[in-house]
Amino acid sequence: MNRNEQLIMNALDQPDFIRLDLREEADSTNRIAKQMGQDGAPEGYLVIADRQTAGRGRLGRSFSSPKGTGLYMSLLLRPDMPASEAVRITAAAAVAAAEAVNALSGADAGVKWVNDLYLNGRKICGILTESVLGSNGDKPEYAVLGIGINLTEPEGGFDASIADKAGAIWKRGEMPDGFRERLAAEIVNRFLPYYRNLFGAELLKRYRELSVLPGKEVLVYRTFAEKEEGKPAKVLGIEEDFGLLVRFEDGTEEVLSTGEVSLKWKQ
Ligand code: BTN
Repeated sequence: MNRNEQLIMNALDQPDFIRLDLREEADSTNRIAKQMGQDGAPEGYLVIADRQTAGRGRLGRSFSSPKGTGLYMSLLLRPDMPASEAVRITAAAAVAAAEAVNALSGADAGVKWVNDLYLNGRKICGILTESVLGSNGDKPEYAVLGIGINLTEPEGGFDASIADKAGAIWKRGEMPDGFRERLAAEIVNRFLPYYRNLFGAELLKRYRELSVLPGKEVLVYRTFAEKEEGKPAKVLGIEEDFGLLVRFEDGTEEVLSTGEVSLKWKQ
């Protein structure tokens, strides 16, 4: 075991649950974990890479993953629940990641529905949960939880495509030694209790407490077409199924379960 592997394993509450695969480079840690799921690996396989050459984001986007400045991790899960409830895994990961970031860095990151973390108005983390359905109906055969966190700003700044909204936990040069490894373990430590009680009240409570959108004016996007104009709305709250309750300008209310919103004041 090398030093970084040791740091992670020593910081885990349940090291026996995790099978750690630490790599210098991966195309996408989600792709690797999915392959492991396909090959029958048990729940708890965790792959972490220093950099990704083809990091995946939601909605077919790419996720910029330069070397040494981010945490790119994917955890293989075999959840015992309907695939339609997969949003709960994402929600549990968002809460766990926000709690872990804040506990270890003293920051005040919040959750932007449904799967991003924001700090000082900038996105510092994205989460991509991919479930693969089994032959026995609606239950996933496995799911892969992928988390990407910007620890520091890369040398030369973020990619132009994300520079206006991306942020990082630390200023360059200020990140403590071993932070990435401790953060990875802390996220897993905080995620597992929520994961084992995905329908429990605590997850919803913490998700609501950490959510940055309620009360805010936003723009709602539904199609993700490049030219789509966001529809102005006010966020009223988070529903029990983790849907986002919004009120449009004409007074109609709707619970969004997919789609994306952007904060109006960022426009
Ligand atoms: C998003 O913001 O759209 C989600 C980004 C998810 C990125 C992480 S990085 C680790 C894992 N591997 C991937 O290819 N994607 C996820």
